[in-house]
Amino acid sequence: MARGIAFVRLNKILRTTAFRMALGYLALFGLSSLALMAFLFWTTNGLIARQTDDTIRAEITGLAEQYRRSGTTGLRNIVAERSQNQRSSVYLLTTPTGRLLAGNLDSWPAVQTQPDGWVDFTFERPVGATTETHRARGRHFSLRGDFQLLVGRDVQERVEIGARVRQSLIWALALTVVLGLIGGLLMSRNMLSRIDAINRTSRDIMAGDLSRRVPVAGTGDELDRLASQLNQMLAQIERLMTAMRQVTDNVAHDLRSPLTRMRSRMEVALMEGPGVADYRDVLSASIEDSDRLLKTFNELLKIARAESGSEAADMKELDLSALVQGVGELYEPVAEEKGLTLHFDIAGGVTSRGIEPLLSQAVANLLDNAIKYADAGGNATVRLTAEENGPVLMVADTGPGIPAAERERVLERFVRLDASRSEAGSGLGLSLVDAVARLHGAELVLEDNNPGLRVLISFAAP
Ligand SMILES: Nc1ncnc2c1ncn2[C@@H]1O[C@H](COP(=O)(O)OP(=O)(O)OP(=O)(O)O)[C@@H](O)[C@H]1O
Ligand SMILES: [Mg+2]
Repeated sequence: MARGIAFVRLNKILRTTAFRMALGYLALFGLSSLALMAFLFWTTNGLIARQTDDTIRAEITGLAEQYRRSGTTGLRNIVAERSQNQRSSVYLLTTPTGRLLAGNLDSWPAVQTQPDGWVDFTFERPVGATTETHRARGRHFSLRGDFQLLVGRDVQERVEIGARVRQSLIWALALTVVLGLIGGLLMSRNMLSRIDAINRTSRDIMAGDLSRRVPVAGTGDELDRLASQLNQMLAQIERLMTAMRQVTDNVAHDLRSPLTRMRSRMEVALMEGPGVADYRDVLSASIEDSDRLLKTFNELLKIARAESGSEAADMKELDLSALVQGVGELYEPVAEEKGLTLHFDIAGGVTSRGIEPLLSQAVANLLDNAIKYADAGGNATVRLTAEENGPVLMVADTGPGIPAAERERVLERFVRLDASRSEAGSGLGLSLVDAVARLHGAELVLEDNNPGLRVLISFAAP
């Protein structure tokens, strides 16, 4: 069982990209080191072989000199003398009948002379009490009167070193391959365990645990970068999911009471069986309720659309001054009716990129609040200025204001403060203002107007 698991794991490692890359690299590295070693070996070997041949040639030149001066006898003497002293040289001088005249070989080696006069042969060399077979290389000459001369050098040492070097190279190559394979396996296992961690996390997340995050090793490598990217994405998804759940909860919760109210009103009407006039009242009240519900749905849709950013493509350069002025004028009669003074302080020619209907709606929502929550006799101000950092819109009133602790919360959907329960409303106005500001990359700030509320929307510079 355990062996089966180990095998599956090994199989998985072998199939990783990291291992394949390590393998490819190993093959490339192995081949190039093999080529380099072979090149070094052959050039060094060739150099040493050439040196041996040069030595033999020099020796022959000396002997030829002697032969020219004093003939076969002189040659015999010098060969005999050199055979005594030179351990690594090989000499043999024989008569036409094959009798040994001088030299350090017992008999003529059994080798065919090559056309260029060079011979490679083996001979027995006495070492202490025994003899060793040594390889040698030399030249063969037929002299006047059919005397035969062989001059050569013992190359046994060179051959042995060559064999040793060749063997070492093979071992070195084998070691390189083994170490490379082990290294590749370790590297791939490390990689695989990190990828597995990512896979485990994504499985947990798919199973419903949105709070899980991919582990970051802290090495800052590409896997870490991938992990932190994934984590950012997960955080964003979690935020969106939470927001969506909240909206669904809110919608379900806040739309239930008007629907329940409508239902019980109709039920009571049916049970009591009143006259036509009462039915009329119930129906018109129900229509009013339905209208309010529809309006709420519309508001919710508008907010959702603004938040999704799907309308961002409709942005165009627009005259902010005219827009604010236009909306402000629409609210003048309402303000007057409530006994409020509406002040305008709108700088001309202020422009910004934006979506006209959404911006108008946002300004309208702010003015609606200012007028709705300000006390009679108070006043409301709409100001638009072109600041250095971009246009700034301010809507302020002298009403009760919003406590600092609540200023964040009132931006959420359906949030209405207890103090304002007496006024009609669904708690969606500021949510839309917030969504519109976000969509336009503007900053929304709620602050104290001492007394009252002051809302500032700072647009980015055009
Ligand atoms: N100018 C203001 N002065 C005092 N309180 C305010 C002001 N504007 C908003 N608020 C408070 O913030 C809450 C949320 O405002 P928002 O505009 O989102 O909803 P609403 O006005 O109650 O309803 P809707 O705008 O959807 O008709 C209000 O219910 C009120 O309690
Ligand atoms: Mg409002």
